[in-house]
Amino acid sequence: MVQFPSNPFLIIAGLFIDVIVAVSVVDTPIGTLHRRSYFYIGGVLNQLGNVTTESGQLYVERLTPARVTQPLPILFIHGRGMTGTNFLNTPDGRLGWADHFMSRGFQVYIVDQTERGRSSWINGIDGVQDAPDTFTIESRFTATQRFNIWPQASLHTQWPGNGSVGDPTFDNFFASVMPSLVSEAESSERMRAAGSRLLDEIGPVILLTHSQAGQYGWILGDARPSQVKAIVALEPIGPPFQNAIFTTDPARPFGVTEIPLTFSPPISSASDLRPVVMETEANFTCFEQARPARKLSNLAKVPVLVITSQSSYHAVYDECSVHFLQQAGVHVQHVPLESVGIMGNGHMMFLEKNNLQIADKVLNWIQHSVSF
Ligand SMILES: *[C@@H]1O[C@H](CO)[C@@H](O)[C@H](O)[C@H]1NC(C)=O
Ligand SMILES: *[C@@H]1O[C@H](CO)[C@@H](O)[C@H](O)[C@H]1NC(C)=O
Ligand SMILES: *[C@@H]1O[C@H](CO)[C@@H](O)[C@H](O)[C@H]1NC(C)=O
Repeated sequence: MVQFPSNPFLIIAGLFIDVIVAVSVVDTPIGTLHRRSYFYIGGVLNQLGNVTTESGQLYVERLTPARVTQPLPILFIHGRGMTGTNFLNTPDGRLGWADHFMSRGFQVYIVDQTERGRSSWINGIDGVQDAPDTFTIESRFTATQRFNIWPQASLHTQWPGNGSVGDPTFDNFFASVMPSLVSEAESSERMRAAGSRLLDEIGPVILLTHSQAGQYGWILGDARPSQVKAIVALEPIGPPFQNAIFTTDPARPFGVTEIPLTFSPPISSASDLRPVVMETEANFTCFEQARPARKLSNLAKVPVLVITSQSSYHAVYDECSVHFLQQAGVHVQHVPLESVGIMGNGHMMFLEKNNLQIADKVLNWIQHSVSF
């Protein structure tokens, strides 16, 4: 049975506590009122003997704020080893980019890449997967100062916590890391198929990609140039034609992608792009097309923003990827974050301590550069 306090002072004190609670709710960011729904798109049925399964489908989460004031939705595609959770909230529980974009009136779509997370991976149909280990995640993303593999790594200060095993924020982040298809070509084919279907359904959109998904941005912008009104590429996978820093393996035979894009004049094979070593200040071999360079005629219709943090391994080479796109006629603005006074970020910038400050730079670019 609930006991009411007989002492009037306690009643007043109780009311006072209610007021304090109400104020603290307002002060604590609770996010933006919205409706969440999800759907799947792009799957195919596969019959093996008498067994039918579905593969290739893309999990899509749609977040619609109570007040949609922006004409175009934003579609987030996460990178390797990650899922759409990247954009929901940070691993230490702060608001993520999805909430921030909704608070500015954007409808938000977030996917789990095909064959990843809530998108099915079918044994016998889909290719081999692997999962990043703690060393890879700590040394490249969260504790780069301690491992200090590339020159800018020592500048990393924005990851919340010590970025290593045993720290609750790291442990929560590491638990979110998922197996990915080993083959970048296979994942690119799957994302082109399902992503094009998605754009036909929900487009036009502003596409925001991170890391591995950078190549899907170029592929989808090429496949559906009228459905992609702008691309924001956070540290897109690169550099052109050959990996750098961790390996020097050949990669991305079409420059910034594993699978063909539409070039003008047309190419019959990757070798038509004739990569040549480019003169740079950087301590690695960076390639461009031999001149005259072929143009990316579809992608040239889509404005692009590339963002690079100050201390990521991408700080070493993103300028080479940007150069490749610009040489091919794509309208790219490159913003190294330190050039706009944002210091100390790494590759997972949208999860870091100043994540919403970086989101505001993206929002500002969208406002000024995208014609609706
Ligand atoms: C499918 O075929 C296998 C092998 O012939 C058989 O054992 C199984 O019962 C069949 N399943 C169905 C649902 O028909
Ligand atoms: C990071 O913090 C955790 C939790 O305090 C601790 O167990 C771990 O030893 C720390 N790791 C490093 C490399 O400092
Ligand atoms: C390249 O490497 C040399 C020697 O390690 C170093 O002194 C120089 O600062 C590096 N240059 C860049 C642009 O990182």
